Amino acid sequence: MTAVAGTPRRAGLLRWVISLVATAASTYALDAVATAAGIALVASGLLAGLDHAWALAFLAATYLAWIQGLRTSLPANRTLLTTTGTSTNVLSKAAHDLVRRATTNERAGRIAADAGYVGSEIGKEVPYYVGAFGAVLLSDSVGSREALVFLGGANLVAAAYEYGLGRLTRAALRRRRRYASFEADWVPAEYLAGYYRQVEPDEIATIAFLVEAVRRAPQGRPMLFFGVGPTLHHVFAAAPVASEIHLADYLPANLREIQRWIDRDPAAHDWRPFVRHTLRCESGERGEEPTSEQVTAREELARAKITALIQADARNPRPIDRRYSAVVSAYCADSATADRTTWTVFMGHITSMVRPGGLFVTAALRRCRGYHVAGKLFPGADIDEDDVRAVLERDFDVADGDVVVHEVPQGDVHGYSGIVLATARRRAWSGTVRQRAVGDLVGDVRGHAEHPEHLFGELVGVGLDDVPTGQAQVQEREQ
Ligand SMILES: C[S@@+](CC[C@H](N)C(=O)[O-])C[C@H]1O[C@@H](n2cnc3c(N)ncnc32)[C@H](O)[C@@H]1O
Repeated sequence: MTAVAGTPRRAGLLRWVISLVATAASTYALDAVATAAGIALVASGLLAGLDHAWALAFLAATYLAWIQGLRTSLPANRTLLTTTGTSTNVLSKAAHDLVRRATTNERAGRIAADAGYVGSEIGKEVPYYVGAFGAVLLSDSVGSREALVFLGGANLVAAAYEYGLGRLTRAALRRRRRYASFEADWVPAEYLAGYYRQVEPDEIATIAFLVEAVRRAPQGRPMLFFGVGPTLHHVFAAAPVASEIHLADYLPANLREIQRWIDRDPAAHDWRPFVRHTLRCESGERGEEPTSEQVTAREELARAKITALIQADARNPRPIDRRYSAVVSAYCADSATADRTTWTVFMGHITSMVRPGGLFVTAALRRCRGYHVAGKLFPGADIDEDDVRAVLERDFDVADGDVVVHEVPQGDVHGYSGIVLATARRRAWSGTVRQRAVGDLVGDVRGHAEHPEHLFGELVGVGLDDVPTGQAQVQEREQ
């Protein structure tokens, strides 16, 4: 017991020691350089021509520069405090910790951290003013104009210091962020326990959106769900619409978890609450409460429609060697990488599986840099609705209202506070499609030789799609 209790206390003490040392070191370094810079500016005579009013204006301008520097250092300090519990300004840490002890309100903690920081920086000005105007009083060779120039010179260094410290802190935080790996750390059961014990607000919104979206999907065609993880909650909306449902994910362990549900393993995850919510959404304003039999019937329909579990990697330009009339990819590309450029590439690869005229439905964590699964941090691409819209608009028609944002209060616990939901229809003749079509004609003729009608379908966007063309990843499920 003692050891367990002692560890957090020691860690807390260590954070204070680190903050104190960082504060002392940075204050000392700043004072030394700022004083030297102030003296050097006066001694250089660069601003000797300024009269008193201009010297005052110069000083005011250096305060504006200082405020600009604070705009970089304050957010960095707040992130440092919330992610590591340390600060380069011990007063800021004291104010932050005191307020957070009194309230769970994060905003109040942030305001306190800023107030402590700015307050102590203003306090550090006092010795400079005392020094500068003390010299004016005690020396005949130093006038008030020189004092103002000295203070301005010191301020310029302080501004550069705030800016540089903020950038350094951010860079250090970025390096420190170590993400868990899907290959080594992802445990399907942990993910299901953390996110799918009940229908949480993000899924209430996602499933409602999906129910509406699949109404726009072509009826009676195979539908792909890409990056499903170990989950099935989204397929129930598609079961009445699709002729077949193909489920793809990067990790075989996730697909095995799905197989357990298909096989009615008693230990498989219970998706019935999600089926019930799907049916409620489908009944719309009628607001009918689904019966237990209806829930079972939808489960059975989904089981019957799932015909392929596919291991696929979004890093491949063609993750699956075929195209679909409808592809759903929820919380995959955005939750598979912390790099926006990689997210854009993944989205390109995933959407390339939507045939011209086909429907794409997606969901993403909004402005999320990482989400927690059993204490492990998995990457978030930190994207928002504008990014989703921009990436879709290259090849898809995205009407107003097709990209929506939902705030999700419970997401803060996991590492996000909103979701982006989007649906779009692929243009028949977008630039990328044309380029790809030419490339496909060369590349696909070999692989698709048995189905020349499929190539034609892709090019003109008519309904000759959904013909399995590749042999590689699609493993038909044993019924
Ligand atoms: C947060 S989970 C989302 C699972 C599911 N769609 C959901 O809504 O709960 C992210 C998924 O992305 C998958 N993933 C990670 N890297 C991937 C890659 N390179 N290609 C395809 N999927 C990937 C993971 O295996 C994981 O199942």
